[in-house]
Amino acid sequence: MIKKLETNAIRLQMERSQYFEHSTPLHLTSSFVFEDAEDMRASFAEEKKRNIYTRFTNPNTSEFIHKVADMERAEYGVSFATGMGAIFGTFAALLNAGDHVVSARSIFGSTHTLFTEYLLKWNIETSYFQIEEPESIKSLIQPNTKILYVQSPTNPGIDLLDLKLLGKIAKKHNLILIIDNCFATPYLQQPIKYCVDLEIHSATKLIDGQGRVLGGVTLGNSELIGKIYLFGRNSGSALSLFNAWILSKSIETLTVRVDRHCQTVLATAEFLESHPKINWVKYPFSKSHPQYKLAKKQMSQGGSIITFEVKGGLEAGRDFLNDLVMLSLSSNLGDSGSIVTHPASTTHRKLSEADRLEVGITDGMIRLSVGLEHKEDIQNDLKKAL
Ligand SMILES: Cc1ncc(COP(=O)(O)O)c(C=O)c1O
Repeated sequence: MIKKLETNAIRLQMERSQYFEHSTPLHLTSSFVFEDAEDMRASFAEEKKRNIYTRFTNPNTSEFIHKVADMERAEYGVSFATGMGAIFGTFAALLNAGDHVVSARSIFGSTHTLFTEYLLKWNIETSYFQIEEPESIKSLIQPNTKILYVQSPTNPGIDLLDLKLLGKIAKKHNLILIIDNCFATPYLQQPIKYCVDLEIHSATKLIDGQGRVLGGVTLGNSELIGKIYLFGRNSGSALSLFNAWILSKSIETLTVRVDRHCQTVLATAEFLESHPKINWVKYPFSKSHPQYKLAKKQMSQGGSIITFEVKGGLEAGRDFLNDLVMLSLSSNLGDSGSIVTHPASTTHRKLSEADRLEVGITDGMIRLSVGLEHKEDIQNDLKKAL
């Protein structure tokens, strides 16, 4: 019986061993044994569902995948060593030389590098559309277009894409629609409802939620997942079973943590919006967000990331970072500790100002990943630095 996702996040566990443990143990083993030659033959022939070798499957990775797939209401998934491993593994499994991809311009930086530096080596070209012009997708589709790729909310612009609209376009043109759902988590947004074929998560972020381990997962229907699984199994991009064990435990508390993150972000957004040194604040569940209505339609809460602009441009942005005491300056996000970055002087410093503006990054823009500290302590640190 399908239970509420909060319950399944805890109760979907691998079978108990003969020791009747309550908490899932670690299965630190590289391989598994067979009862006899026939058992071994049938397992290799895939006549039996059986763990053979941990690069293929392991009870800890299977439990993790099962839990995330349940939250997303996906048929199944494949786990990878990192979020980028999941993104690359998905492309590598599904694309052939000469295929074409249409992607939103605002995507994670390393994904952009895959499109512009690596997929091109196999003669796979990518055309970008501006996220505020999804209708332009149709004019970019070619006879060899196979994948439509997006991220929503975007990083670091915190813009949204209309998943229902994209689902319709993808269906009509027979494209595989893939979303990087990392900022929303499987708890806040289930894109499969909107005919999205595959979802990818960097589990390194809110799924772990405590900044400890790396991991990635792709979820979707069994046919596509089967192909991606075989690529992962043969290319050696397996998620470490120790990380899978950590991530499976993390999922048990995901909904509680994310509820708290979202409450604190709303309070932080309100504080920043009323501060005289701030030009603007962007958060999907703030009424001032230009896509507030869309956010309410396709997300259940706004997530843990907020962006805002300090008055005074590049220097003011850097000064603000230097004056923070408690908040961490780090590149990660979705951690229990609040983290601040200044994209214009760090992650996006190589782009021209015009190119930065195209993806929504102004000189004074700050990305804040709101953690689980008390909201008053977060606000006090921000207040001092401003
Ligand atoms: C939206 C998004 N997708 C993918 C990734 C890549 O994840 P990983 O670092 O686990 O490879 C990141 C990392 O920051 C991200 O923010």
